[in-house]
Amino acid sequence: MIVIGSQWGDEGKGKLVDLLAEHVSLVVRFQGGNNAGHTVMFDDKTFVLHLIPSGILQPKVRCVLGNGMVINPQALLEEVDQLLELGVDVRGRLFVSDLANVILPFHMLIDKARETRAGKNKIGTTARGIGPAYEDKASREGIRFVEIEDTPRFREKIDRLVNDKNKYLEHVLGSQGPFLEAGQVFDDLMVHMQRIQPFVCDTARMIDQEITSNNHVLFEGAQGTFLDIDHGTHPFVTSSNTTAGGACTGSGVAPNKIDQVIGVVKAYTTRVGSGPFPTELDDKDGEYLSSVGHEFGATTGRARRCGWFDACLLKESVRVNGITDLGLTKLDVLDGLKTLKICTHYLDPATNEKLDYFPHRLSIQERMVPVYEELEGWMSPTVGVTEYDKLPKLAVAYIERIAELLGVEMSLVSTGPKREETILLKSFF
Ligand code: IMP
Repeated sequence: MIVIGSQWGDEGKGKLVDLLAEHVSLVVRFQGGNNAGHTVMFDDKTFVLHLIPSGILQPKVRCVLGNGMVINPQALLEEVDQLLELGVDVRGRLFVSDLANVILPFHMLIDKARETRAGKNKIGTTARGIGPAYEDKASREGIRFVEIEDTPRFREKIDRLVNDKNKYLEHVLGSQGPFLEAGQVFDDLMVHMQRIQPFVCDTARMIDQEITSNNHVLFEGAQGTFLDIDHGTHPFVTSSNTTAGGACTGSGVAPNKIDQVIGVVKAYTTRVGSGPFPTELDDKDGEYLSSVGHEFGATTGRARRCGWFDACLLKESVRVNGITDLGLTKLDVLDGLKTLKICTHYLDPATNEKLDYFPHRLSIQERMVPVYEELEGWMSPTVGVTEYDKLPKLAVAYIERIAELLGVEMSLVSTGPKREETILLKSFF
């Protein structure tokens, strides 16, 4: 089973994974790095996890950081320590793919320097070095965990990389320094690796064994469909394949071994960072969604942009990911709105053409306008409701209209941040 973000991330995947993880033996992350931020509540404590799957909060679940990820060793150890402090022991339950790429300090410096240079055209990255690390992966210059060793050959590779990156930072990006010292980068990595080495293994074989033994494996997506490097709103995207296909390449598991794709859908739309957002609201409804929905990034604390539900965009998500089930989150945020809007298609005013898909061409994206269908708001609390028939009739109508427009079954509705604040409409296992 894959749990995927269907919009621009921050759909509430962490809570769903945490809930479903109770029934699986393995949770696998397959792309991204510590740009992700999954907020989960556990024993009334709030956790924000950036790298380790939220499944780690279930004591019997083992967690994998797959080969498709880019991993910052220091950030990983900070997370391990934070979990330990909260009483969650990861020993024997956390596995890092030996083929995953490492994020090194120069990746973060390059990420920040590029954004500074881009000025108002910046992507609005999380500054965690994600893009530069994936670039090195694609150019085959990056370092994979399997090759980290305390040998002259590896030391030479670090020397060469640090030297090249310092030149790039200074002469191309105009950075004023201070610049990195190769010896320090190498020594820090060796110190971190002493603690990380026991987690490193061939995770693809491990996942295969789990599936062959008929145990349930959950693949946890990070970010969202429209931040996908290929299928997202390029160039305002992240640098990995956030869509369901990424679960196979990013973990080494064949497509025919995966049968369910749960698309996590927020009851409205949000986006962090720059880029197109057809249903964005710049009015009091937008402010309402932002404040009632506490729409601030879990990783960077930035305010998220808010807007109406975009069914046109979501239909694309259903197609690209092969979504078999929908998990609707943050329904309760809409409790205080008199009128709700759902975008059903866009209109290109230049041609008067009705668009029932998200166009790739930037000029059309910039001029097209969303066309809405209006629904009456239920204006009563749904927070914490756990049974479908206890929901207000108008809330049910909203949910069913979304399922109808997307042509996919609604299998779960989340009515609050806690595990128990959930309506399960189907048994997944
Ligand atoms: P990067 O992944 O740091 O390179 O950032 C690229 C784009 O993806 C920016 O618009 C970020 O705001 C966005 N982004 C990255 N990770 C997340 C996430 O976990 N949730 C929402 N947006 C994200």
